Amino acid sequence: MLGAPPGGPRAPEASPPAAHEFQKLHLTAAHELQKLHLMLAVKQHGFGGREQLSLCELPRPTPKEGFVLVRVAAVSIHAGDHHMLTGRPYLTRLIGLNEIPGMDFSGVVEEVGPGLARFAAGDEVFGTTDTTGGAFAEYVSVAAKNIVRKPATVSWEEAACLPTSGMTALQALRLGSPVRAGQRVLINGASSGVGTFAVQLAKSMGAHVTGVCSTQNVEMVRSLGADVVIDYRTESVEAGASAESGRYDKILDVAGRYGWRPLLKPRGSLVAVALPESECIPCVLCSIVCSPGIVCSSKKAHAFMQASTPWTPTLPNPNPKPNPNH
Ligand SMILES: NC(=O)c1ccc[n+]([C@@H]2O[C@H](COP(=O)([O-])OP(=O)(O)OC[C@H]3O[C@@H](n4cnc5c(N)ncnc54)[C@H](OP(=O)(O)O)[C@@H]3O)[C@@H](O)[C@H]2O)c1
Repeated sequence: MLGAPPGGPRAPEASPPAAHEFQKLHLTAAHELQKLHLMLAVKQHGFGGREQLSLCELPRPTPKEGFVLVRVAAVSIHAGDHHMLTGRPYLTRLIGLNEIPGMDFSGVVEEVGPGLARFAAGDEVFGTTDTTGGAFAEYVSVAAKNIVRKPATVSWEEAACLPTSGMTALQALRLGSPVRAGQRVLINGASSGVGTFAVQLAKSMGAHVTGVCSTQNVEMVRSLGADVVIDYRTESVEAGASAESGRYDKILDVAGRYGWRPLLKPRGSLVAVALPESECIPCVLCSIVCSPGIVCSSKKAHAFMQASTPWTPTLPNPNPKPNPNH
């Protein structure tokens, strides 16, 4: 039988711990884990859905030569993370399963690997691990060439959203014939991670921008600066384009479809950031390799893969050397 006998002394009821006690417990646990060189991390057990993910204690990585250890402040999730979790399209599985998923992050440098002078403990940075993953954790070890300093005016969250989607948009707009002021640019998938950066970057390059998205995102894409927005749920891209009476100097396809040729100017260029989805590996390989012939007969059509070359930091140097002439 449960409970105290009637009339007997009552055991005091345990009250739920207050929020600050939880916080204290969490800090104590984090401190203990640190002493053991452990960290909390998301672990991926296989390809599939969220059931493949669990929160685990894993060894904290040690940065090797050319690497830094970053204490993660914020991470972002993009379509690439979804491909790496689901293993779809199947071609993704050639990369292999990462124990810890996650690519794009921002945070503070905790430790610097041997022989690296460019960064020091305490630097605020952001970057990407690319497809090697590891960012969904308290600490990530990342190649120094894959990070840059975070400007103080940019929040942790904003910085973590930038690397893959922002770089993809910038590289795609520069690929082939870079966008010039006054040119007409069409972005299919303008409301996507890549597309939202592409709309803003193309506008800042002086282009006339047409964005394609669904009804719910029309106002958002317009607010990013698009001159014309085509709602693909209510009209076809072809109809929207002909209503604007124009062809385009550059088409960026972030959503993946065929049949762009009639919408390109004779010397226009197409960059296919995403190809139409297919599980047929030979078909995907073939469409990447042969894209100038398949996607469009123009020699300036590209199936685009984000370059994994080192970042070119274009941010202002926070510690400029004094000019001896002054
Ligand atoms: N090649 C590379 O190096 C590289 C790098 C990064 C990303 N990618 C690829 O680029 C693609 C987009 O990535 P992301 O992270 O930007 O995607 P995301 O944020 O998940 O967005 C997907 C977008 O597709 C749009 N969309 C769906 N159906 C459409 C249609 N019929 N017409 C026009 N737009 C349509 C959706 O717009 P609505 O919500 O408005 O319908 C949504 O905004 C993915 O396939 C990704 O793998 C490639």
